[in-house]
Amino acid sequence: MRTVFFCVIALAGTLALAGNVLADSEQTIGHQLFTDQNLSLNRNQSCSTCHSLAPATDPATQLPFGAPGFVDPLNVLNGTPVSAGSTAGDFGSLNAPSVGYAAFSPDFFWDPVAYVYTGGQFWDGRATNLEAQAAVPMLNPVEMGLPSQWAVVTRLKENTNYVSLFQQIYGLDLDAIPAGELAPATNTPPGAVPAVFAAAVQAIAEFERSPVFNQFTSKYDFWLAGVTTLNSNELSGYNLFTGKANCSDCHVSYTGVDSAGNPTPPLFTDFTYANVGLPRNWNIPGTPAPDPGLGGRVDIAAADPSGSQLGLHKTMSLRNIAITPPYGHNGVFSNLEQVVHFYNTRDTLGLLDANTNAGFGTTGWPPPEISSNLCVAEFGNLRLTAAEEAQIVAFLETLTDNYPATGGDTNVPPGAPSPFANTPLPTIPVTLSATNPGTVTLWGRLGKTYQIQFVNSLLAPRLWQTLAAVRLGTNGLSVADTNTISSASRFYRAVQLP
Ligand code: HEC
Ligand code: HEC
Repeated sequence: MRTVFFCVIALAGTLALAGNVLADSEQTIGHQLFTDQNLSLNRNQSCSTCHSLAPATDPATQLPFGAPGFVDPLNVLNGTPVSAGSTAGDFGSLNAPSVGYAAFSPDFFWDPVAYVYTGGQFWDGRATNLEAQAAVPMLNPVEMGLPSQWAVVTRLKENTNYVSLFQQIYGLDLDAIPAGELAPATNTPPGAVPAVFAAAVQAIAEFERSPVFNQFTSKYDFWLAGVTTLNSNELSGYNLFTGKANCSDCHVSYTGVDSAGNPTPPLFTDFTYANVGLPRNWNIPGTPAPDPGLGGRVDIAAADPSGSQLGLHKTMSLRNIAITPPYGHNGVFSNLEQVVHFYNTRDTLGLLDANTNAGFGTTGWPPPEISSNLCVAEFGNLRLTAAEEAQIVAFLETLTDNYPATGGDTNVPPGAPSPFANTPLPTIPVTLSATNPGTVTLWGRLGKTYQIQFVNSLLAPRLWQTLAAVRLGTNGLSVADTNTISSASRFYRAVQLP
């Protein structure tokens, strides 16, 4: 039997982090979609309602924070744990996490070596990647609330700008699709609807991969680059964070190295999941049952009936953490002091009945809302002093972006570029898979043209030959390879054409 090898060389446009410029028209349309309230049932809510692109108001000073945190500004200001939906009186049951740096989370996977689930989007990782995530809120009844993909596409059709850009970027004709304003999801939509919907979520995801959400301009970044200094509290906090308090075990604070040997910035997460033992939050409207996290997913529950993933939630990045309260998947903590005190004293402070008790966090903590699979080795009794807790908070405050404009630091003047300005931002991976006999399947970006090439040997000289050039009008595409060379190994790659 002939063995077909495949290797993949992704040449998708590498974006440099040069300022806040959107690299291409796809990100520009993604920006428009992200902020378009017409994509919600009552035309009153967009992605940016819950993931604001503008700095939220600091509840303590009533002034805007120094950077956008990409969370719900009403939750920041009012301390409320969850967001209202498009329909009055509807609320979600979880705290909206930051979209900042979410693009760096790898596609959800099971790591057979570390024996943990890793990556994905949402507190339980149920969306594999940003595209899968962006498909959810527009159709979620307690969020943007449109009834179907067809209804979303009908809203897109109203906007002549979308009509021309979808044609130009994806080769999709919105005018040709009949309107279905309130079409229920049970209706069979016109054939082009899924492709238009997929293009819209791809554009949103591409915008989320832009420098707007991924600035790397915190004081900590400039300190790592040796351009400025941390004050003594921040430095002590850093030493505790990476030492006695074990925080960096999960919230990785070290500079990494990419496959080409270039330094990569720390993202303050290892993208894994854990049950840190959050108490139940009784202030969520409708008092929803505790969220079971990973183990509550139907697919994971089926794969693991023993419940070893119950209560595990995603380790979120701590970049911009000082400006994104409240904290935790259920928003039970109102400030960083409380979070750090919890990690320090979860197992040693008194026991309370509920977080609505006035002694919450001072005289005691309520029990974990889900007690299985609790992290006990890493924290719960860290033996930190009050001064040490405050130092960790001071360190966390160095993770806020936009330091050149807000720091008043002569070493880092306004306009100073990020020390990680040359870090390539994530791009949609191009993947090729080859099955015997002779079928090559390409997954890449909608609307882009790829040339699929092959060689029969990786020995020099490698003369790549063209199998096919394809423009992706759907997410994936299979191409037949009529290779008949017996006992030959064939290597494929996809090259994105301009
Ligand atoms: C009504 C508020 C609301 C709206 C509107 C909303 N989100 Fe969210 N978002 C949330 C909440 C709540 C979560 C967490 C839900 C969960 O984990 O199940 C979330 C999670 C996310 C995440 C996952 C981040 C991570 O690190 O896991 C991303 C990315 C995101 N939203 C992007 C979007 C986009 C794109 C849109 C618009 C298409 C959008 N959101 C609309 C509230 C909202
Ligand atoms: C075992 C891994 C692990 C360790 C160690 C750890 N964390 Fe976390 N952290 C998590 C997970 C998982 C979450 C999300 C928990 C949830 O919402 O259920 C989280 C959430 C947080 C949040 C809230 C994030 C948000 O977006 O709401 C903060 C702040 C935080 N951690 C700070 C720290 C600090 C400070 C330390 C050290 C004292 C620390 N963490 C140690 C895994 C860890």
